[in-house]
Amino acid sequence: MNIQIKNLNKDYIQEKGPTLKVLKDINLNISSGEKVALIGPSGAGKSTLIHIVGLMDSPTSGKVFINDIDCSLMDDNDLCDMRRKNIGFIFQFHYLLPDFTVLENILIPVWKDKVNKEKRALEILDQVGLTSKVNCLPNELSGGQQQRTALARALINNPKIIFADEPTGNLDRTIGVEIENLLFDFSKNSQATLVLVTHNQELACRTDRVINIIDGRMV
Ligand SMILES: Nc1ncnc2c1ncn2[C@@H]1O[C@H](COP(=O)(O)OP(=O)(O)OP(=O)(O)O)[C@@H](O)[C@H]1O
Ligand SMILES: [Mg+2]
Repeated sequence: MNIQIKNLNKDYIQEKGPTLKVLKDINLNISSGEKVALIGPSGAGKSTLIHIVGLMDSPTSGKVFINDIDCSLMDDNDLCDMRRKNIGFIFQFHYLLPDFTVLENILIPVWKDKVNKEKRALEILDQVGLTSKVNCLPNELSGGQQQRTALARALINNPKIIFADEPTGNLDRTIGVEIENLLFDFSKNSQATLVLVTHNQELACRTDRVINIIDGRMV
């Protein structure tokens, strides 16, 4: 699936102080199957941008098109449907639910159909090397295992677009590379579009295109 971002702006109103302009006139086209890295200093607006393009937040102005569909015209149900069917998101902080097991956490995006999806969940857990941990709670896992669980959760729906916000930022380099390989293998095999935020130059170099965000602008 392709993505078009047109004249996108995001402001945060601050109680004290002037309005914070976090994204400033972002224009970007990403082709179907393309792998793009977003880099830039802390606070530049990278997470804000992928949350908006991943349909988890709305812009102050401007538009996002996914497969030529204007997402600003979608209601909450349409947005939810689009996210559930087509988008996989790996967060900067993995947000696993502490009271749910690894298997249950992975099934959350497909909860309505969890009985039928369990086979797929176990398959994907095998791919990320977590078969022995399916019944563990997140606090019984190492950081790398938690992030692999978050990766499995993002991939369970066979998404057409994957957003990954520093997926390996908090990990040991060896484990990080393993997770990156899984991510790249999946997007290659399924021809998914990949939008990746990273501070890691080596990881950025594995993508088709690197985009630099500085102070809310594309440079
Ligand atoms: N909900 C919010 N309310 C107010 N300001 C916010 C909010 N979310 C983010 N910001 C501000 O927006 C700016 C961009 O934040 P963002 O998280 O997008 O940065 P980032 O580029 O992802 O940084 P990092 O590399 O540290 O993750 C920051 O100055 C941040 O303080
Ligand atoms: Mg961020």
